Amino acid sequence: MLRLSERLAAIADYVREGETIADIGTDHGLLPIFLLQQKRSPKVILSDIREGPLRKAEENLVIYAPGIEADLRLGSGLETLKNSEVDVVIIAGMGGHMICDIMAANPEKTRSFPKFILQPRTAQDKLRMWLYENGYAITHELLVRERNKICEIIVVDTTLRRERIQNENQLKTKLFDLEFEISPLLFSNGDPLLKEWIEYKIKTEEEIIESIRTKGSKASLSKLNNHEQRLKKLKELHKRCLFS
Ligand SMILES: C[S@@+](CC[C@H](N)C(=O)[O-])C[C@H]1O[C@@H](n2cnc3c(N)ncnc32)[C@H](O)[C@@H]1O
Repeated sequence: MLRLSERLAAIADYVREGETIADIGTDHGLLPIFLLQQKRSPKVILSDIREGPLRKAEENLVIYAPGIEADLRLGSGLETLKNSEVDVVIIAGMGGHMICDIMAANPEKTRSFPKFILQPRTAQDKLRMWLYENGYAITHELLVRERNKICEIIVVDTTLRRERIQNENQLKTKLFDLEFEISPLLFSNGDPLLKEWIEYKIKTEEEIIESIRTKGSKASLSKLNNHEQRLKKLKELHKRCLFS
């Protein structure tokens, strides 16, 4: 039986029995192979922009799901899929900007898939802001440990249309409250890793401030105020997390 990492297992948990999936940037293909092996997904598409990863996925298929057919596709982003071809699109282990680019390339096609499970490695705040500005509704958020790191999983329901954000002040408030960086859903769900996640961010911010104060250039000194504001906000969020 294929054993997934905590991160991939947490992503798999968001796929419901019977849902068809496409894994974009599948690499080793372990997640879709697991869903096939478990018979949770009747159809899976393993898609990657590079030939090498697809060959690796093919080898893993032979090892973990011998005799089971899978659909391997070579190409960028959602280009390898037809509109509405699957229920769920998974894009994991890529940078947030790349995920935005993939979803933005063809909005009509993106909207034709009801659910996206996203696991950005970087620029998570930029991805949330892009989703917000483009009217995509985030329904679930989860923090998951991967070795000594904490990863973020974001689930989007494209069938829930949210109004595109028009109001500059609303956006500014969300930015000031760090809502794109630390999702309010993590507070309402009482995510078990939230406190540790905020503590990590506080420590990073304190190190930046210390470094600017001791050996900062004129240019970085001008950013000190921003970092201090951020630290203050993070400490408020940490307190909220202790009392919620
Ligand atoms: C770090 S791996 C992530 C593997 C797996 N999804 C995971 O989360 O463990 C990123 C994969 O995305 C693929 N990739 C990068 N850009 C892509 C794109 N625009 N479309 C499809 N695949 C892409 C790379 O070739 C690589 O195999």
